[in-house]
Amino acid sequence: MFNFFRKKESNKDTPASYSSIAVDMHSHVLPGIDDGAQNPQESIYLIRKMMDAGISKIIATPHIMADYYRNNAETINGALALLKQELVKENIDIVVEAAAEHYFDETFETRIDDDKLMIMGNNYVLFELSFISPPPNVFPAVQKLLERGYKPILAHPERYSYMDINQIKAFRDWGCNLQLNTISLTGYYGKSTMKMAESLVDNHMVDFISSDMHHPKHAEAFKRALKMPYVQRLLTDYPLKNILLK
Ligand SMILES: [Fe+2]
Repeated sequence: MFNFFRKKESNKDTPASYSSIAVDMHSHVLPGIDDGAQNPQESIYLIRKMMDAGISKIIATPHIMADYYRNNAETINGALALLKQELVKENIDIVVEAAAEHYFDETFETRIDDDKLMIMGNNYVLFELSFISPPPNVFPAVQKLLERGYKPILAHPERYSYMDINQIKAFRDWGCNLQLNTISLTGYYGKSTMKMAESLVDNHMVDFISSDMHHPKHAEAFKRALKMPYVQRLLTDYPLKNILLK
């Protein structure tokens, strides 16, 4: 009898929200400056969805990419100011800050040299790699970040199909934090990405999780992810660092 009730209780305890991590630290909800929300109304829609799912602070990370999105502190802070005005107008009470998702291209190292990185929390720098081909000379850049006191975070390692788990582990051994896209665990990006995401969780290699939210389909998947056992594990029994950014 006792066991029966215990079992019921533990089912009830599975998380229905992201409130335990509090902070979503990778998304494209700033209006009009990359491939995410295109105007403040779209931003508000996505932000409401994140809040419904239990997020209480958002660090928005627009792309900085030499070839596509030439963002800098000015464009990013401008979009943040616009969004904050809209949040006040709509009476929405949430903390929103801005950093960036730096693309590893030829301008990345120059940005490190020139102190032009958009950081989050205590000197964390989010960066992403090409989805198509392995980047040349990435480790010297990681080394340079570390020497200058930055804490690199590699965005969604599970999505680089040219890397196996040992290659991903090399990034962590070099001092990079790894950020998993929560929706990878729903199969949103396909089966092989899901399998890699599960392996990263199983091998205790995940430091941060986040939505990487661009549009309403991501918002749906972000909510749906809460039902996945792997996501429940991350939210209840895993040393994630999101909370350090609160
Ligand atoms: Fe992203």
